[in-house]
Amino acid sequence: MRAVSPDVVQLARFRARFGENRFRSISPEYFEWKHRRNPYLPGYIYLERRGEEVIGSASITPKKLLVLGQIVLGGEFCDAFTDARHRREGIFSRGMQAGIEYAATHGIQMLYGTPSLGSASYQGFLRKLGCELCPSARLHYMAKPLRPLKPFLKLGVKAVVKRRTRRSQPFRMLCRQVFGRTPCPPAQRDGEPLRISVLDRLAEDFDGLWGPPRYAFCTLRDRTYLTWRFLDNPDDYLLLGAHEGRDFQGYLAVKLSPDGATGVICDYITLHDNQLVFQGLLCEVERMLIERKVRQLVTYCMEGSPYFQTLETHCFADRGAERGLCVVVHSGTDLARRLLASSQPWHFTLADSDNI
Ligand SMILES: CC(C)(COP(=O)(O)OP(=O)(O)OC[C@H]1O[C@@H](n2cnc3c(N)ncnc32)[C@H](O)[C@@H]1OP(=O)(O)O)[C@@H](O)C(=O)NCCC(=O)NCCS
Repeated sequence: MRAVSPDVVQLARFRARFGENRFRSISPEYFEWKHRRNPYLPGYIYLERRGEEVIGSASITPKKLLVLGQIVLGGEFCDAFTDARHRREGIFSRGMQAGIEYAATHGIQMLYGTPSLGSASYQGFLRKLGCELCPSARLHYMAKPLRPLKPFLKLGVKAVVKRRTRRSQPFRMLCRQVFGRTPCPPAQRDGEPLRISVLDRLAEDFDGLWGPPRYAFCTLRDRTYLTWRFLDNPDDYLLLGAHEGRDFQGYLAVKLSPDGATGVICDYITLHDNQLVFQGLLCEVERMLIERKVRQLVTYCMEGSPYFQTLETHCFADRGAERGLCVVVHSGTDLARRLLASSQPWHFTLADSDNI
């Protein structure tokens, strides 16, 4: 194990006071990876102390982003925690403000965060930090049972039908979710077989933009980023890659909850957003997780994206955007203001947030 820097140890100890994160580790190794082994720029860590005791934390994680056709250094607001005895004393605001200053002096042109809609941190970002809710970025939580008959029988037909129809899911979709899996498309396109395999390293020569720029906002998913984010991460991720011949066509990253019951699709993209490739990846991940007795698959997806439609076709139920994560953007740069005004679609997944 590599040495862990003292501020990282203090951050991890302080974070541990707030309980586990559902899907990722909160160990010193995790924070060392996130802030000290970042391939672009060291992360910024703010710790507020009273005497020797840490009573608040905030941080910025640098990332390369593709924003409105421009590759820029960006950063994500992370690790916002204040000791319950010291809330509403301005600790979160001071920490994030210090992060905004770090960004301005280190060439970071775009800062964003993903608080829960309406939460205390969401209020703080909007009221104190010059952030705005990005209206064109609506993240939906989506879920699919992988062993659908078991919970169905347990709950009883009546309760399920009542709940589903209240959420106005079409009855056909309900039946598909309860009784079956979506048939997988033929893994064959234009005579070239689509080969899906688990990746433990990445070739250098793939297109980090995944086709011509087409999103208002997208993390630059090049080899450097994917290696850091998934392969060098102290947590375990399964990275599935799709190849057609020698050409890399897309990938999907998944991880399991600590109890092994939930598979979380953290990230995905395909060359030119090819949905046949995405379908092939979804089918393979479902097959692998059913074999491991995983009970459900969950993910986040942007409203209106082609991936959203494919997930629905694959029987993922849309649990909506209202209760989930939202995206706030710091409006301090011209680029950020143009992004906030843009109605172009985003490509944004759970891996673009600090939640995994
Ligand atoms: C969110 C959190 C970090 C805010 O920390 P804090 O140090 O109390 O925040 P600040 O004192 O800087 O408050 C900033 C502003 O946020 C808003 N805010 C903070 N807490 C709020 C609350 N409970 N309800 C409504 N607004 C709130 C207010 O506008 C506040 O400014 P004001 O006090 O002048 O009105 C803290 O509540 C916390 O640790 N919560 C649990 C962990 C968590 O949810 N972290 C966020 C992960 S994204």
